[in-house]
Amino acid sequence: MNEILQVKDLEKSFGDFVAVNKINLNIKEGEIFSILGHNGAGKSTLIKMVLGLINPTSGEIWIDGLQYRQKSKDIKRIIGYLPERMNFYANLTAWETISFYAKLKEVQPERCEEVLEQVGLADVMHRRVGAFSKGMQQRLGLAQAVIHRPKLLILDEPTTGLDPIGIMELKQMIRNWNQEGTTIFFSSHNLADVEELAGNMAIMNKGSIVADGSLAELQQKYKLRTKIKIKVSGDPSETWFSQQQFTSRFGKFEIQDNTMTCYCDSRDKMDVLKTLLDKGIKIEDFSVDEPGLDLVYQEVMRNCAIF
Ligand SMILES: Nc1ncnc2c1ncn2[C@@H]1O[C@H](COP(=O)(O)OP(=O)(O)OP(=O)(O)O)[C@@H](O)[C@H]1O
Ligand SMILES: [Mg+2]
Repeated sequence: MNEILQVKDLEKSFGDFVAVNKINLNIKEGEIFSILGHNGAGKSTLIKMVLGLINPTSGEIWIDGLQYRQKSKDIKRIIGYLPERMNFYANLTAWETISFYAKLKEVQPERCEEVLEQVGLADVMHRRVGAFSKGMQQRLGLAQAVIHRPKLLILDEPTTGLDPIGIMELKQMIRNWNQEGTTIFFSSHNLADVEELAGNMAIMNKGSIVADGSLAELQQKYKLRTKIKIKVSGDPSETWFSQQQFTSRFGKFEIQDNTMTCYCDSRDKMDVLKTLLDKGIKIEDFSVDEPGLDLVYQEVMRNCAIF
């Protein structure tokens, strides 16, 4: 698959301060990619360089194979952008605001209504933006970001200011746009949102990318264990096969009453259950608890603190 965004050895310094430190990134066309990190990690600075809003100190950026110094206008047509904070003219209505962006981005006026509908502002499109809540302004920001049907949609903390229903709707919009072929690149502090949406992610700390890959890859890399709780009939300790053999194959486990709790590699889940069944143990119930992004993130940050 083609890479829509490639970043090579990208660096940005403000005076002596290095905000983004020799970053490398490859984002494939069609994926949902997230950039995570503490406040001040360098996410927005990276995004602004990708958008051509600030110049890198050094390094290269390719967007759909193009570079800013050659094809800056073409690149801007490819990208849609929702900034961290967006300011609109308070006296314009949502309709007037989006019509303004439609002219700016040279799209048909018919697209305005369609896009306001998509972001859930159809009912209020003739109201003044100055009277909009933060969440409504965020939706308007999204409308201007997608009005020209960008190939690459960049969202800087898109869930900020949205209520729980708004967040669910936004996630659905992101999935829909992605299914229509738009590549999504978003920054977020919300680990649950990233876990739910992103196929691949990069974690930034103090300007550097300290971990990247899919959640499964990161779980493997940081050797985080999957917890399986298995309820068996009878007293498991009486019917047990070699506990030592089990531990050396799958890792440690605990038994309490008729429940066994096993901490294994995610890839061994089915083998654990199969081994028990093969030994004639009757499984009444089981639950699987995969290590989430919260644990991965903690582990990544713990490693940063050590090295
Ligand atoms: N124009 C600037 N001049 C000086 N320092 C800057 C400038 N822009 C950003 N920085 C610094 O660069 C660092 C990275 O900032 P950035 O806004 O990229 O962080 P972030 O990861 O987006 O954080 P947040 O999660 O809070 O949005 C911060 O220490 C910030 O103070
Ligand atoms: Mg930011």
